[in-house]
Amino acid sequence: MKFNQDFIDKLKTAKSVVFFTGAGISAESGVPTFRGKEGLWKKFKPQELANFDAFIRNPDLVWEWYQYRRKIVEEANPNPGHLAIVEMGKYFEDVSVITQNVDDLHNRAGSKNVYELHGNIERNYCIDCEAIYNTNELEVTGKAPRCKKCGGLIRPDIVWFGEPIPQSIFSAAELKAKNSDICFVVGTTAIIYPAASIPRLAKEDGAYLVEINIEPTEISHWVDYSLIGKSGEILPEILAEIRSFH
Ligand code: APR
Repeated sequence: MKFNQDFIDKLKTAKSVVFFTGAGISAESGVPTFRGKEGLWKKFKPQELANFDAFIRNPDLVWEWYQYRRKIVEEANPNPGHLAIVEMGKYFEDVSVITQNVDDLHNRAGSKNVYELHGNIERNYCIDCEAIYNTNELEVTGKAPRCKKCGGLIRPDIVWFGEPIPQSIFSAAELKAKNSDICFVVGTTAIIYPAASIPRLAKEDGAYLVEINIEPTEISHWVDYSLIGKSGEILPEILAEIRSFH
């Protein structure tokens, strides 16, 4: 892919780079996205699975759904898109990943500064005493597990619909976005707020905004540069471009 000169110039001078990622970056690892033709929300109803009321109504069902998704994620591996981001860490002063994904693949790829806005599917906590459990510490038998300390229900550490993103994580992510020279928006429909405010904040504070997606999105018309294609292909090409002038 031939990149435009403006973008190449930005790559040459940028110090701080942010990757704002969504489900699309993990699609090539075999993790389904939420929207789109094969999206999870086409087959399942968010209101029955991804909110606190649903959990209290039917914790076993919600656990079954998360066990189904954990299995997919555990069998998946980081793809060339995740890995290219890690490599780019060698060429800029500061590289951060602000992700809406809960699949842990950025961490498993080796990214260092990962801000998980919507939680992590392998982490869980007791809704009564807030004790934290990794999934591998729990015995999941088809029933929602109970806290070993207080007997309370354990839930996945996922930010469900209607719940706030933890303030400390969001503030830190906002600061990174505002201070970035380039902000890549990768594999997200960028419509779920407040997460979707991240690219807007970055651009308002002067970042060069680059979108990577297999199709145009609602933000394509106001980004600085829109790259249409798979992130697992385009990100390694950007890495090769960066290496060509180092
Ligand atoms: N490369 C790049 N982009 C891709 C690829 C790919 N290989 N495959 C799919 N995409 C794009 C789609 O075109 C779409 O724009 O990824 C995007 C996925 O969008 P969503 O399914 O809406 O996922 P996301 O934006 O992460 O959703 C945000 O919504 O349901 C909530 O909490 C959930 O974190 C999630 C949030």
